[in-house]
Amino acid sequence: MSDTGYESDTLRDIAPEATEPRRVVVLISGNGSNLQALVDEQSHDRLGGEIVAVVSNEPDAYGLHRARDAGIEAVVLPHREYDSRDAYDGALIKVIERHEPDLIVLAGFMRILTPRFVRRFYGRMLNIHPSLLPAYQGLDTHARALADGVAEHGCSVHFVTEELDGGPVVIQAAVAVADDETEESLKEKVHAREHLIYPIAVRWFLEGRLQLGDDGPTFDGVPLPPQGLRLSHADAAEELDEDIDDA
Ligand code: GRF
Repeated sequence: MSDTGYESDTLRDIAPEATEPRRVVVLISGNGSNLQALVDEQSHDRLGGEIVAVVSNEPDAYGLHRARDAGIEAVVLPHREYDSRDAYDGALIKVIERHEPDLIVLAGFMRILTPRFVRRFYGRMLNIHPSLLPAYQGLDTHARALADGVAEHGCSVHFVTEELDGGPVVIQAAVAVADDETEESLKEKVHAREHLIYPIAVRWFLEGRLQLGDDGPTFDGVPLPPQGLRLSHADAAEELDEDIDDA
């Protein structure tokens, strides 16, 4: 400190800074119903942060309207205008970083990401997948689950790693498959569960409770089980006011 006392007086005058809300960028390609679930939580101050931008690779994605309706910046970055996956992901990194996010949320972003992209946001990028991972990675999960005659299906939120749909799972919600289940009815039930668990996982991350450490994800400092936390069919149905006899 200087002997004039100037610095210490000045420091005493500085008011503690208000904590900035944690920043989220959401990537979409389509309908954006998961985005809507996050927006709804944010509007009730329950998200633990702020969605500062929504980016879509598809110019016609309905989710862009949802973003604009909520007063969130909606950015279109069409992949068809880029020669290679690497060039696109490079441009996407720039757009995302302009918004200085703490967390990147993939919400129906239908693109395979380059390793460079995944590494850039490692530990701060979440995805939601319509199956109880590790079952049914990839597409057409509901049809495949029905064809296999499984008794239980669901959805998972996971950290994104270089393995497609293979990153460590944070939370899952199960649904019991009814005897007369159709692909549409199953999709609808799974979607409702997605809208339930994604905002929870996002809030946990933004509150610092959920982290990806060297040995996998932790919640309040405790390692999560291999398939993350699991919301049973009964618990999810209760949360969603579903008729439990549906299954
Ligand atoms: C969801 O089923 C999600 O699990 C998958 O893509 C779909 C996106 O739906 N990753 P929406 O655009 O959020 O309605």
